[in-house]
Order: sequence, then C-alpha cells, then structure tokens
Amino acid sequence: MIKDGNGLYQEAFSMENKRTISRDTMGLVIGSGTKGQTYLRWHDKELYQLQVSYNTSAARWTNSPGMSFNTFVDSRPVNSSCLECHVTFAKSASQYGMGNTFEKNKIVYGVDCERCHGPSETHVNFHRKNPEIKKGYAMIPYKELTQQQQLDACALCHSGLRTALKPAFLFVAGDSLSKFSVMDDQVTKSSGTLEVHGNQYGLLIASKCFQISEAMNCTTCHDPHQNQRGNSMVFNQKCMQCHTGMNTMINCSMDVIQQQGENNDCIKCHMPLIDSKSMRITTEGDSIGDAVKVRTHLIKVYKAGK
Ligand code: HEC
Ligand code: HEC
Ligand code: HEC
Ligand code: HEC
Ligand code: HEC
Ligand code: HEC
Repeated sequence: MIKDGNGLYQEAFSMENKRTISRDTMGLVIGSGTKGQTYLRWHDKELYQLQVSYNTSAARWTNSPGMSFNTFVDSRPVNSSCLECHVTFAKSASQYGMGNTFEKNKIVYGVDCERCHGPSETHVNFHRKNPEIKKGYAMIPYKELTQQQQLDACALCHSGLRTALKPAFLFVAGDSLSKFSVMDDQVTKSSGTLEVHGNQYGLLIASKCFQISEAMNCTTCHDPHQNQRGNSMVFNQKCMQCHTGMNTMINCSMDVIQQQGENNDCIKCHMPLIDSKSMRITTEGDSIGDAVKVRTHLIKVYKAGK
C-alpha cells in the first residue's frame, strides 16, 4: 500500500523475480469504513476491484472477498450492481448498460439527497427564484407516500440480493420497487460475483413488531439525516413508544432485575449482533474466516446461546 505526493496506490511486487508487477491507483472507494472499504481502479472507462480491502473490526488490510492469497488479481470487473447501492448515480458507457464501463465524469458519489428524494433541479431552481414561497415545489414529501412506498425507498438497497427487472438507477422514491426488481427469498445469499450484505427489510417484515403494528417502517427508528450509530438510548426509546405501560399489548416479560442488569438495553437482547453469512474476514491459511457481526432486524425473543 503506497502513498506519495500523487495519490494512493496498491502495488504488487514479485518476491521471486524481485520486481514490481503492477502499480494501480485507487480510483474509487466503496464503503464509509464503518465495517470496511474496498477499492476500485479505472482502466480507461472500465472499473476493476483491487486485491486489497480494509477491514475495520480487525483494523487491518485484507484480501477482497473471495480473492486468493496465492495469486495476484487485479482484473475482477465491477459491474453496475455495486454502484447501484453505493453511489447515487453512475452512467454506463456501454450502449445497453451492461458490463463494467462507466462515464467517469457522470458519477454522483455517495448516497445523497437525490437518491432518496429524487431529481431535485426543478425544485432548487424554483425556490432560488421564489425565496418567499415556503411550500416545497416539485417535491413529494415522504409523509405523503404510502407505507409500502416509504419502505421501498429503503428496500431498494437494504433487501439483499434482488433479481433486476429494470435498472435500479431509474427508481425514484414513490415508485413501486416490485416493478424494478424482485427479492430473492433467502435472507442472505451470495452468488459468485456479488457479496450480499444486510437484508434489514426482509428481517424487519418477518418480525411481529412489524406485522402486528399499524404503520411501522424504517423511519420509525431511523432518522436518515443523522448518524445514530451506537446511540442505543435513542433506539430503546423507540421500542418503549410501543412497549411500555398502558400504551401497548405486551411489555417485556423478562425479570426486571435482569433487564436492569443490561441497562434496559432492549436491542441488546431483542436485536442482537449476529454473524453475517456473507461478510467474512479471511486471513492466510484460514479460508473460512471470521464473520463480521451485523445487527439483526428480526426482532424477537432470543434465548441464551441462540
Ligand atoms: C442507494 C442505496 C441506498 C438507499 C436507497 C438507502 N440506503 Fe441506507 N445504506 C446504503 C449503503 C451502501 C450503506 C452503507 C454505507 C457505508 O457504510 O458505506 C447504508 C447504510 C445505512 C445505515 C447504517 C448507517 C451507519 O450507522 O453505518 C442505515 C441506518 C441506513 N442505511 C438506513 C437507510 C434508510 C432508513 C433508508 C431509506 C430511507 C436507506 N438507508 C436508503 C445504501 C442505501
Ligand atoms: C443491494 C445493495 C448492495 C449491493 C448490490 C452492494 N452493496 Fe455493499 N453494502 C450495502 C449496504 C446496505 C451496506 C451496509 C452494511 C449492511 O447492511 O450490511 C453495504 C456495505 C458495504 C461495505 C462496507 C461499508 C461500511 O459500512 O464500512 C463495503 C466495502 C461494500 N458494501 C462493498 C460492496 C461491493 C464491492 C459491492 C459489489 C460487489 C457491493 N458492496 C454491492 C448494499 C449493497
Ligand atoms: C437515505 C435516504 C435519505 C437521504 C440520503 C436524504 N433524505 Fe431527506 N428524508 C428521507 C426520509 C425517509 C424522510 C422522511 C423522514 C420522516 O418521515 O421522519 C426525509 C425527509 C426530508 C425532508 C422533509 C420533507 C419530507 O420529504 O418529509 C427534507 C426537507 C429532506 N429530507 C431533505 C434532505 C436533504 C437536503 C438531503 C441531503 C442533504 C436529504 N434529505 C437526504 C430520506 C433521505
Ligand atoms: C410501532 C410499534 C412497535 C415498535 C416501535 C416496536 N414494537 Fe415490538 N411489537 C409490537 C407489536 C404490536 C408486537 C406484537 C404484540 C403481540 O404479539 O400481540 C411486538 C412484539 C414484540 C416482541 C415479541 C416478538 C415475538 O416474536 O414474540 C418483542 C420481543 C418486541 N416486540 C421487542 C421490541 C423491541 C426490542 C423494539 C425496539 C427495537 C420494538 N419491539 C419496537 C410493536 C412495536
Ligand atoms: C424497531 C427499530 C428499527 C427499525 C424499524 C429499523 N431499524 Fe435499522 N437499526 C435499528 C437498531 C437498534 C440498529 C443498531 C444501531 C447501532 O448499532 O447503533 C439498526 C441498525 C441498522 C443498520 C446498520 C446495521 C449494521 O449492523 O451495521 C442498517 C443498515 C439499518 N438499521 C437499516 C434499516 C432499514 C433499511 C430499515 C427498514 C427496512 C430499518 N433499519 C428499520 C433499529 C431499527
Ligand atoms: C436482558 C435481556 C433483555 C432485555 C434488556 C430486555 N428484554 Fe425483553 N425479553 C427478554 C426475554 C428473555 C424475554 C422472554 C421472557 C420469557 O417469556 O420468559 C423477553 C420478552 C419480551 C417481550 C415479549 C413479551 C411477551 O409477553 O411475549 C417484549 C415485547 C419485550 N421483551 C420487549 C422488551 C423491551 C421493549 C425492552 C427494553 C425496554 C426489553 N424487552 C429489554 C429479554 C430482555
């Protein structure tokens, strides 16, 4: 891993021949680094994944998922699926939108406002010209969407592997996701080319909290504009909105002393961290590796040891 005045590189060196085999610029980073990051290189308009990724929980460089420790790999093409969930927009450079070629200057990095709120140019132009008008123009407020539309706006990227019917970049909030792709029935499943991360949507809708309450969705607990990670107080208050005293059908039946022993941390017992089946840290000589822990969204009673 090399850093110099011009940028960040991954360099491969052959110990046998004592020479550098390749030196690739890290052209595009995927992942905030909460769990890890992976790095892509450009070859003209083509995108390839580099061999070395970073794993945050282990605090170390590691091989990119599924890549061998014994051979040098820098030719794994990255197709639009990674980008569909990890950037706001990427324009394919191929006629039919296939393959790993993209227009470099037509990528909107990160998951930003327009990915969740739709194209906003008309809205912005209107309000710049009419600063006295306070009612949002050409923008659909989330609260006017149905429960399923609100869920779909998140499920686009948070329901694991899906089979595409239409390109995901055409989806805007308010659309019906079932017209764009259908969910694979397994909770987590990895195909040869794609690593699947969380399926918060699939797990949540399998929970009684979701099934029996009236209009639960992702924003019942999450504020998508805030970094709430680690703030268990905020989340526990959400549980208590439905599960305390008189305003609920059921309260925690666990012994009060034991609950207090865990600081009444509802999520610790009812949404525990569970090993991901697909995200693993592999080290040399250990091909199975250690699983990365992910917060399950299947809210239920977990008996000790399970
Ligand atoms: C375009 C795809 C996309 C959409 C749409 C999307 N997300 Fe995400 N979301 C991601 C990706 C990718 C990450 C992981 C980002 C990272 O850490 O690099 C993420 C991370 C998160 C996280 C974890 C943040 C943390 O603390 O690390 C939460 C919570 C979340 N999303 C909730 C939502 C909710 C709620 C919605 C719907 C309102 C939504 N997301 C819509 C792609 C998306
Ligand atoms: C269906 C949407 C989707 C696809 C496709 C997808 N990801 Fe992700 N990715 C996510 C979400 C959501 C997260 C947040 C963690 C979670 O839910 O497990 C994430 C997390 C990550 C992270 C860790 C980021 C962090 O939180 O630090 C990396 C690295 C990553 N993805 C790389 C990739 C690569 C490379 C590809 C293509 C092979 C890919 N992803 C395809 C949705 C997706
Ligand atoms: C991950 C998806 C996501 C991203 C990214 C996002 N928002 Fe939102 N935004 C939402 C959701 C969901 C709501 C509704 C929240 C609620 O019901 O509590 C919302 C609500 C709003 C509202 C109130 C009107 C409404 O539709 O309810 C405004 C204004 C807004 N967002 C602006 C922004 C801006 C500006 C950005 C970029 C800086 C941004 N949002 C990024 C998902 C997102
Ligand atoms: C919108 C209201 C709502 C919220 C928010 C909510 N729940 Fe629930 N929850 C329910 C309802 C309704 C049921 C089903 C009650 C019944 O079976 O009669 C339920 C059931 C449960 C059950 C029993 C599940 C089972 O399979 O037997 C547990 C445990 C639970 N909730 C924990 C939580 C925790 C922890 C949180 C916070 C992370 C939470 N709930 C947030 C409404 C909610
Ligand atoms: C009942 C409350 C609740 C609901 C509803 C809910 N979440 Fe979460 N979510 C949580 C809690 C609690 C965490 C753990 C936060 C932490 O680690 O600090 C979490 C974490 C996450 C993470 C990060 C997972 C990880 O391990 O890194 C993502 C992504 C996420 N939620 C997405 C969603 C999406 C998408 C939806 C809607 C389908 C949703 N959540 C609905 C409570 C909820
Ligand atoms: C120390 C772990 C622990 C903590 C903390 C905890 N619970 Fe529980 N909870 C349990 C166990 C175990 C059960 C099942 C008890 C039994 O039926 O024997 C349970 C049962 C429940 C039930 C189902 C009750 C029923 O009648 O079926 C609900 C709802 C619930 N908890 C909600 C919560 C909420 C909300 C919080 C946070 C205020 C919370 N729990 C905190 C362990 C915990």
